[in-house]
Amino acid sequence: MSNRTFTMIKPDATSKGYTGAILDQIIKAGYSVKAMKWIKLSEEQAGLFYDIHRERPFFGELVQFMSSGPIVAAILEKDNAVADFRTLIGATNPAQAAEGTIRKNFAASIGENAVHGSDSDENAAIEGDFFFSKLERF
Ligand code: CMP
Repeated sequence: MSNRTFTMIKPDATSKGYTGAILDQIIKAGYSVKAMKWIKLSEEQAGLFYDIHRERPFFGELVQFMSSGPIVAAILEKDNAVADFRTLIGATNPAQAAEGTIRKNFAASIGENAVHGSDSDENAAIEGDFFFSKLERF
């Protein structure tokens, strides 16, 4: 069990002005921020980040959406970080997300679902390394 996870606040949420409210919910859930940046991905960069989904039918839509506006990328720390964060954000499809979860509160659809959360300790490390150098994390 690792104590770190990786998240992105996605372009739908940043463009609707939800960034502060989402960060507030994350901090109130006990996470501390170990790295953070406000950044706009190119289509190529978004494709590399989501390379594991390259063969999925929604890949093109996903890449276009994730490069359509700024995101907030962050490394977060807390005990049991990965699993607890998945609970905090709720199901990938906001229609199936539990009450009070970030996706229930802020997401519109399965494609535009407000936040990303790593699905394993291994991917949390890979995804954090994608965005942050050693100098940018604490
Ligand atoms: P995320 O947790 O960032 O990881 C992969 C993303 O692919 C997922 O959130 C969704 O935003 C997106 N995704 C998954 N399934 C679909 C789908 N059926 N249609 C569009 N986007 C999807």
